[in-house]
Amino acid sequence: MNIYYISGTSRGLGRAIAEELLKDSNNFVIGLGRKSEISHSNYIHKYVDLADLDQVRRFRFGDHLKADTVTLINNAGTLGPIKYAGEINSIELIEAFNVNLISPALLTNDFIRDYKALHKPKTIVNISSGASVNAYDGWSIYCTSKAGINMYTDVIKNEAKIRKDPFLKIVAVAPGIIETDMQSQIRSASKNDFSMIDKFQEIKDSGQLKSAQVSALDILKFVAEINAETASFVDIRDSQ
Ligand SMILES: NC(=O)c1ccc[n+]([C@@H]2O[C@H](COP(=O)([O-])OP(=O)(O)OC[C@H]3O[C@@H](n4cnc5c(N)ncnc54)[C@H](OP(=O)(O)O)[C@@H]3O)[C@@H](O)[C@H]2O)c1
Repeated sequence: MNIYYISGTSRGLGRAIAEELLKDSNNFVIGLGRKSEISHSNYIHKYVDLADLDQVRRFRFGDHLKADTVTLINNAGTLGPIKYAGEINSIELIEAFNVNLISPALLTNDFIRDYKALHKPKTIVNISSGASVNAYDGWSIYCTSKAGINMYTDVIKNEAKIRKDPFLKIVAVAPGIIETDMQSQIRSASKNDFSMIDKFQEIKDSGQLKSAQVSALDILKFVAEINAETASFVDIRDSQ
């Protein structure tokens, strides 16, 4: 059985990833978030508000001693308020950083600690964004938190290499521009708060948005390749 922990399965990309995975009875999905409407015998939902760090710290991963693979997909994300610095509510600023950066880091840290002794492919996928490398006005929280998740991912990748952990893989993936509520939120921003709004409207009008299902399939293909690559490692500790 392949175990997937996915944050933000209520809608958008996270929901599409969960629904694609659930088409295969070898997959079991544990959704993390404030809500979910997915009803499936291989799905359970754990209530966690990722803006509330105490709730995230209380979350516990399962043992999954017989799992073939364990994967954490840090998908939940928020643009936060689209406003220039100096005009942002402090609580909203903190909560958006918590959702996009601190909570994924807490979950990643716990995931690595809890599955240290599991000698099976263990993969962490952090959903990043093209905004992590583009300084869009009005998006200070989003761009910065996504840039942070890229660096966090790179450091852990380096640590896994130094420790020669053959089972741990971590990647940050920018999924492209997807037709979800997040894009509607961008298009409904004020031009005073985000000067490039016309470009995002044009992307929608010219049919360039990817569907959440297509994006989900792209990401899962990538994850399958990573897991297959990890599975090809021989664990000499098991045979001693
Ligand atoms: N859409 C795009 O064009 C695009 C482009 C690049 C990257 N991304 C990234 O892709 C990922 C998914 O985005 P999306 O487009 O699917 O966005 P979305 O439709 O707005 O969905 C966001 C998901 O995150 C969850 N979430 C937000 N705040 C949360 C909180 N405090 N606690 C728990 N869950 C929370 C939402 O749950 P609730 O229903 O509880 O709010 C929802 O399930 C994000 O990381 C985003 O940054 C998206």
